[in-house]
Amino acid sequence: MGVGKSDAQAEQYQESGGQSDRASGVVDGQVASDGKSCHSGSVPKRGLVHESGPGLKIGNCEIASPFFQAALSGYSDLPMRVIARRHGASYALCEVMLDQFLVTLTDRARTRHFLEIADEEHPVGGQLMGSEPEQFAAGAIKMAEAGFDVIDINFGCPVKKVLGRCRGGFHLSQPEVALEIVARTRDVVPPDRPVTIKMRRGMDDTAESRDNFYRILDGAFALGVAAITVHGRTVKQRYVGPSRWDFLAEVKRHVGPGRLIFGSGDLFSAEDCVQMIEKTGVDGVTIARGAIGNPWIFQQVHALWNGLPLPPPPTLRQQADVIREHYRLCQQTYGEKRSSIMMRKFCIKYSASHPDHEAVRQGLIRVASLDEVEAVLNQHYNDDRPGRYVPREVHGSQEEGCS
Ligand SMILES: Cc1cc2nc3c(=O)[nH]c(=O)nc-3n(C[C@H](O)[C@H](O)[C@H](O)COP(=O)(O)O)c2cc1C
Repeated sequence: MGVGKSDAQAEQYQESGGQSDRASGVVDGQVASDGKSCHSGSVPKRGLVHESGPGLKIGNCEIASPFFQAALSGYSDLPMRVIARRHGASYALCEVMLDQFLVTLTDRARTRHFLEIADEEHPVGGQLMGSEPEQFAAGAIKMAEAGFDVIDINFGCPVKKVLGRCRGGFHLSQPEVALEIVARTRDVVPPDRPVTIKMRRGMDDTAESRDNFYRILDGAFALGVAAITVHGRTVKQRYVGPSRWDFLAEVKRHVGPGRLIFGSGDLFSAEDCVQMIEKTGVDGVTIARGAIGNPWIFQQVHALWNGLPLPPPPTLRQQADVIREHYRLCQQTYGEKRSSIMMRKFCIKYSASHPDHEAVRQGLIRVASLDEVEAVLNQHYNDDRPGRYVPREVHGSQEEGCS
């Protein structure tokens, strides 16, 4: 099968080069032992099936469960992160930001939201991308000052323009520079603030690339990073073909139990998320495309993780309520005028949970105000029928390899 709709999202990330137009996430405040405020998600405690070991800690940040909202350029802004957290994501990452962008960022109304964090969303991660170690460090300081609990370094973005400017995934081909970025970032970020990394499994499938991957991985842990997220695709692969979960298992075996590895790639259902942990041994999973317009995936995975049956898909009323809630968060973040434009792409994704998804999609594709969204909700969501689980083909699948 060819490239699916999900590739269009991936391409947006690729073309955005990290900077589009948004910002972050939730829950009960909790003060970590060193006094730094880190908040953990109000998710159910692990049940019988997976009850074992201490809770997850990224540095000194307590994370209530291993299911996170991934960084998604153009999507994981404050409203999406808050919605994800309210549905059980234990931690959420802001979309990637350029170091250059951060250092020149002023308190203008149009861009202020990039660094906005909702009280309820701690712990929240900010993600940074850049080319020069020195400037990277300056961006990291700005991000830490903004209040992000974790500073994540992007060594994975496969966008052509990004690679051309020696950023993102490009660093996987130059371990020395990558490790210098890690060292400088770790140096300037306050010691109580964890630094983490997001990597792909290499530039390509060559032995040299694999060697570089492990040099960066081992070197970064030696420099004090608190966790590394691995997306099981190569940079060359972009989003075509499966994420190699066997590689994630190999990486986890390589680092051993004391070092945190989070997995990414092809997490499109609650079952996928549990299976990734069970099959690879990773310590947590970051849900990306599978969570866009589908925050219920977090509730569903918690149920499975706790040994409960998979909850039914959200009813149409429940879906409408979340669309309204998301819209309200957008209004607070962006103001009335920009909200409908920001919401369109989410609404299209929400429509995938509706049994008449094509008609609903057509209705939501051009909404220009909350009134217009309400009209579509009234037309399609009033009859409180069951929704549907988002089918795999909306995202692509491991076998089909179109993610
Ligand atoms: C639209 C889009 C935007 C993305 N933006 C980011 C980003 O800002 N930072 C990042 O580390 N990864 C980003 N990613 C990669 C995802 O976090 C994730 O690693 C990847 O999509 C694989 O997971 P999946 O197959 O479950 O979607 C993006 C992916 C997509 C599709």
